[in-house]
Amino acid sequence: MPATLVVGTQWGDEGKAKVIDFLSKDTDIIVRYQGGANAGHTVVVHGKKYVFHLVPSGVIYDQTTCVIGNGVVLDPMFFIEECDKLQSEGFPVYDKLLISDACHLLFPFHGLVDSARESVSSPGRKIGTTKKGIGICYADKMMRIGLRVGDLLEDDFESRLNHLVEEKNAELGKLYGIEKISTKEIVDRLKYFNSKVRKNIVNTAFYLDTQLKAGKRVLLEGAQGTGLDVDFGTYPYVTSSNPTTGGAFIGSGIAFQYLKSVIGITKAYTTRVGEGPFPTELEGEEGEKLRALGQEYGATTGRPRRCGWFDTEVLRHAVRINGLTSVALTKIDVLSAYDKIPVAVAYERNGKKLDCFPSQGLEHVKVIYEEFPGWKTDITGIGEFDQLPSRCKDYVRALEKLIGVRIDLISTGPDRKDTIASCP
Ligand code: GDP
Ligand code: IMO
Ligand code: MG
Repeated sequence: MPATLVVGTQWGDEGKAKVIDFLSKDTDIIVRYQGGANAGHTVVVHGKKYVFHLVPSGVIYDQTTCVIGNGVVLDPMFFIEECDKLQSEGFPVYDKLLISDACHLLFPFHGLVDSARESVSSPGRKIGTTKKGIGICYADKMMRIGLRVGDLLEDDFESRLNHLVEEKNAELGKLYGIEKISTKEIVDRLKYFNSKVRKNIVNTAFYLDTQLKAGKRVLLEGAQGTGLDVDFGTYPYVTSSNPTTGGAFIGSGIAFQYLKSVIGITKAYTTRVGEGPFPTELEGEEGEKLRALGQEYGATTGRPRRCGWFDTEVLRHAVRINGLTSVALTKIDVLSAYDKIPVAVAYERNGKKLDCFPSQGLEHVKVIYEEFPGWKTDITGIGEFDQLPSRCKDYVRALEKLIGVRIDLISTGPDRKDTIASCP
């Protein structure tokens, strides 16, 4: 049975969870493969809103098993709080959850170092992170000093943690003047995590292979987006993982042969949180108008999202890097207020048209726009492609042509039901 990957094509917050929730009804297993609690994934069902950070968005379906893959950086206490809240809302998460033993543990000192680094960074170097400690935890993983979920089950865990804490205390004290943290406090707090999920810790790469062989349907849930990929995004204004298709294999252990479809989630305009170049960004009142219409405030930090027009260069880059087989277009209802809708169709630098989305120097490009007529009718909740106003259909078709991949799902509102599931 093939696996399906859902990946963000822009700078995150494209509406991935809305689409994942919609697809989860036909799925057995949902896997997070990278990132951590920097993600904020929103699902709305019959008007009730759920925001997920570490728990896969499909957990609210009865038949799904949810997997935290080895590529995730897991803050155990944050995770347990999220699970307890879901459990109290009636979802038996602890019965349907598996955590990779190779998944790296994110401790409070990771967040402290992240926040401290952000507060001392000069304006040009500040990343605008979520301050959750993501980059610091991944750095420890690469330095081979990190601790993994499986280490919790070993006798020498406390002494290994102590070693790491000593190193962090030296860094926090010397560089940022932050007082020492105690190993004991962390160990005490981990007891609750252990008591809740010890039985759920397994080799998830092996588990997924077995399940795929047995014909189970697997959905890989990307966090962040292509523009935030540490290799293919707008470095250094990126996250510290690979949200793109390559990262899905590494972060889950699934073999590439299983992956048959890669769905790129794409907002009908563009947003970005934090620092970094954004060619189609709207400044001032224009930006505020789009932010208000789209309710663009971060699901994790509450920060206002920067807003701008749709950028087909960004999308063509995402299509190529991820090998997208189709695109799901979200939030098209937000554009209903506009008379004219500009779309970025190309970039120029020093008077020359660029071949592709550049690896660097994005802040120097000049954007070439094409303008499309608006439809000026509320389309919220429309569930059939034929019911869309003709100008809206033309907009969708034009985007499809410009990005070179089929748009086969359209989201017309935040609720599960506000979805056009098939486009002719
Ligand atoms: P994710 O991180 O990609 O899962 O996206 P977020 O949940 O951070 O942000 C997307 C926001 O847009 C959430 O508040 C969703 O409820 C909302 N949303 C998703 N799809 C649509 C849509 O088609 N129309 C509207 N108006 N809102 C949507
Ligand atoms: P979802 O999964 C939007 C951004 C941060 C910052 C940069 C680095 O909800 O789409 P980090 O804390 O990861 O070191 O921050 O990445 N960022 C996101 N922006 N959506 C996200 O996740 C994001 N996760 C990280 O704002 O610019
Ligand atoms: Mg989000």
